[in-house]
Amino acid sequence: MAICQRVGIAMILSIESSCDDSSIAITEIATKKLIYHKKISQELEHSVYGGVVPELASRLHAEALPSILAECEPWFGELKAIAVTNEPGLGVTLIEGVTMAKALSITLSIPILPINHLKGHIYSLFIEKEAVLPITVLLVSGGHTQLIEVKSYTEMETVATTMDDSYGESFDKVAKMMHLGYPGGPLIEHLAKSGDATKFTFTVPLWQSPLIAFSYSGLKNQVRLAVEANEPSAYPDIASAFQYTATEHLIQKLKKYFKSHPPKRFAIVGGASANLYLRNSVTKILATYKVELLLAELKFCSDNAAMIGRAGIEAYTKGELQPYNNISVNPRCKL
Ligand code: KG4
Ligand code: ZN
Repeated sequence: MAICQRVGIAMILSIESSCDDSSIAITEIATKKLIYHKKISQELEHSVYGGVVPELASRLHAEALPSILAECEPWFGELKAIAVTNEPGLGVTLIEGVTMAKALSITLSIPILPINHLKGHIYSLFIEKEAVLPITVLLVSGGHTQLIEVKSYTEMETVATTMDDSYGESFDKVAKMMHLGYPGGPLIEHLAKSGDATKFTFTVPLWQSPLIAFSYSGLKNQVRLAVEANEPSAYPDIASAFQYTATEHLIQKLKKYFKSHPPKRFAIVGGASANLYLRNSVTKILATYKVELLLAELKFCSDNAAMIGRAGIEAYTKGELQPYNNISVNPRCKL
């Protein structure tokens, strides 16, 4: 009887520290219910620099993670594993979460589930839900712009990726050029609302190329020239034209891809999936295929530990449990 009860409330504690968000969650394995979730963002601290400063991020994780963990103590007795983001991300910040996971693993005598951050974003779609697969996923974040065919937790194929900058990163860089702060995505999206996209014309990246790939560095340079040549009063128009062009690039490549791979189920995940202009533009092309756009809840679009815990349940089910001394940090690893 006692054993049945313990199985019934078995939980995973998950840790996310791949960039500038310190987050811990506790998820019930059997029901996928999110029992606890807290995130401390460092946006304010990095804002003055116009981007994430890795060493500062690392120091802030070292302060924030233990303070969140202290609130999780009541559930320590129910934990079956620690899920932790160990790839990809900033080496100096990943190590903060991984070190905490190792310490907990030793103290509580439970194994670790190393989790790929990108899989975490994909499973943000299924927090407190069953996974419905297969699904085609557009992952747009600060570090990644990828089109992924997800067949299962262990079978994911990246079918298109960026050749240089990512979609979210290009918003961050344009915001930095305009001295708006960080993260640039919401700031540019807001500024673009009061602008006229037709006042500036930027070339859509790779529009003549048959490649299904993404590129943002050329667009970033076009925007830089416009910013340098104009007064701040023109920034809303530049932001609007930039957002239009950056998104049109994704739309053109999706249309091309869908010709040979019509979508049956389609989702956008990652921090930049919060962008309403992007959501609306993708919804329009999906209508042609009578497919609805699937999204994570807004609070789970940007980095968080709830998505790592949800991916952790899949990893737990697949038996991907590891002893603490088998876990390493892989900053550049892909899917
Ligand atoms: O997924 P995330 O929290 O962190 C990474 O894994 O990178 O994504 C953060 C990125 C930042 O580049 C941020 O500017 C971008 O997502 N972002 C947006 C929006 N909200 C966040 N980009 C465009 N429009 C938005 N509304
Ligand atoms: Zn992320």
